[in-house]
This record gives sequence, C-alpha cells and structure tokens, in this order.
Amino acid sequence: MTRVFSGIKPTGHLTLGNYLGAMRQWAAVDQHQADAVFCIVDLHGMTVDHDPARLRRLTRQGATLLLAAGLDPELCTVFVQSHVDEHARLSYVLECVATDGEMRRMFQYKEKAARERVRGGSVRLSLLTYPVLMAADILAYGADEVPVGDDQAQHVELARDLAVRFNQRYGHTFVVPKATLPRVAARVMNLQEPTSKMGKSDDSGPGIVYLLDEPDVVRKKVMRAVTDSGREVVYDREGRPGVTNLLEILAACTGGNPESLADVHQSYGALKKDTAEAVVEVLRPVQARHKELCADPGYVEEVLRHGAEKARAMARPTVDTAYRAIGLLPPVAEPALNAAR
Ligand code: TYM
Repeated sequence: MTRVFSGIKPTGHLTLGNYLGAMRQWAAVDQHQADAVFCIVDLHGMTVDHDPARLRRLTRQGATLLLAAGLDPELCTVFVQSHVDEHARLSYVLECVATDGEMRRMFQYKEKAARERVRGGSVRLSLLTYPVLMAADILAYGADEVPVGDDQAQHVELARDLAVRFNQRYGHTFVVPKATLPRVAARVMNLQEPTSKMGKSDDSGPGIVYLLDEPDVVRKKVMRAVTDSGREVVYDREGRPGVTNLLEILAACTGGNPESLADVHQSYGALKKDTAEAVVEVLRPVQARHKELCADPGYVEEVLRHGAEKARAMARPTVDTAYRAIGLLPPVAEPALNAAR
C-alpha cells in the first residue's frame, strides 16, 4: 500500500491556503486510499523567533483543526513531531549527507532570511537546516508520496535527492518520495497582494482567510480582495493575478474548473460574491466540528498519544537501519550485557 506523509507547521493560525492546498486532499483522498501519516511539525515552529506558550497553543489548535477537517484516527495516523524522537535522530544523519550550498539555494530560506534581516533580527541556524529536518520527516516513514502545496515542492525535491544520495553511498535504505500537488489551488494567493502566497506566518491581515474566521469576516475579506484593472473575468495567472486567485479558490471550493467559472461570471462583483459564499460553505462544517472537539480536549490528547505510538513504531526501524548503514556502532543489546556480568 502506498505510504503518504505530510505535515503542517504551527507558526500561525491555519489558513484557507493550508486547507485547499493540502488538508482537504489529506482528508478527502489520502486517508482513504493510502497508509497515511500526518504530523503537526512543532520542531519546525522554532526556526524563527517564537513564543513557547503560543507554540504549544498553536500545536494543540493545529491538531484539533486537522481532526475537524476530517482526518479520522481510525483511518490514518495523526501525531506531534516532537513526540517522536526519530525525526531529530534522522535529521542529524541527513545533515551529514546534505551540503550547505543546497540549503542556501532553498527559496523559502532566501526569502525568510532576507525578511528577518530587514527586521533587524538574527537568522536562526535551524532556518537554514530546516529542509533537512523536513527530509527526515518524510524519509523516516518510507513515504512514497508527499501531498503538499506548490511552495513545498522544492523541499520534497531535496528529500528525493538526499534519499538517492544516501542509498547510493551507504546502501538502499530510503524510499525515494515524490510530491503530489492538488489540481487547483496549489498556491492560494494573499487576497490583498495576489502575487504573494497566502501564508499563515505572515502578519495577520485582511488578505488572509483563517479557517476559524467567522462567516461575516470571510465575506468581508473576499469582497475586499484586490482585483485587477479591466472588467472582464479572465483566467490569466500572469496578467490577472487577483481575479485568477478568486477563480482558483472558487473552483477548489466547488469542485469546478477555473476557466469555465470565468466564462459564467460577468463581473468581478458577482465572482467575489460567489467565492465568498463558497468559502463560507466549505469552512462551515470544519468550524462546527472544531467547536465540538474543543469541548473534548481529552479526545484530541488521546488521538495524539496513540498517533505518536504508531508513528514511533513505523519510523524506528528505518532510522535504525540508516544509523547502521552510515557506520554508527549499534548499542550493545541487553542480553549481551547480562551475559558479560
Ligand atoms: P506549512 O505549514 O507552511 O503548510 C502546510 C501545507 O499547506 C500548504 N500551503 C498552501 N497551499 C496552497 N496555497 C497556500 N497559500 C498554502 N500555504 C500553505 C503547504 O504547501 C503545505 O503542504 N515545511 C512544511 C511542513 C512540513 C512538511 C514536512 C510537509 C514539515 N515537514 C514533511 C510535508 C512533509 C511547511 O512549512 O508547511
């Protein structure tokens, strides 16, 4: 059976981008068709300046929202990254396979490091090495497929490269994974800045729809979305990024096709209205289920405890194999110790 692994970082409140680009596919398709493993990657939440209490809060909220979005612990594994030591264990080994040049070429590193520097902050070393930890997340589970939005494709490519390089040098150890992107909405753009990704770690603003935004807030944000000069509704990513973003969101929410939706909308106003309502309808059941789950925190904790147990059992053998393959001396097993006494 195909093994699928993906993760989400608790660095901010989850957005419509996270949902349409990744979470929805995990719930609607992956957990039914594959042996699927999903992780709140809290270690990744410490690569930029962070507040410990907020990280804990967002980790719990992220897990609750994954379940609210439809992940079913009977069908898939849901857990928190820091509860399973194998991620950090494997990450160091992969740092000994990756090069610093590879890390410095990563788009996200270049962008985020530049932003931190402009703010006068220092750049944490973990921001540079983060894609190696992400590769460890994926390779530890022998994932065949990694369902992600477009912004993570380069990181998955790195995981592939490291898997191939490790296997060539030290013997076959890792499955070589591939990224799978959604048909539409692989990159949902900020409603106020349609040439930038809608990102949860950005400063909160009217251009980001959060999964827990009230319906009226969603409507306001979509109705105020920046559109392009011109009047016709045309699907054209380069020339009409604002309108194209709305068409993609509407298509993702309704299961339609962005080009055909362009043909049936006569004005930007009508497109915005339909998009706003479609988003409200998509978020409605997620928000209702989130409310129920918040009333039962013991359930979420139990899911995460059991998920971590399952995840450890999956990852441990692969990480142990990688340790042996790269030349690390295995610890002496208990019976031998006893015999020596
Ligand atoms: P993160 O937390 O930024 O995003 C989680 C998932 O949501 C997708 N996504 C989007 N898709 C479409 N449009 C958007 N505007 C948008 N914003 C986010 C992301 O592509 C991602 O699929 N490094 C990863 C987390 C991670 C991971 C992993 C993913 C860590 N280890 C192993 C897969 C496998 C990240 O920061 O995602």
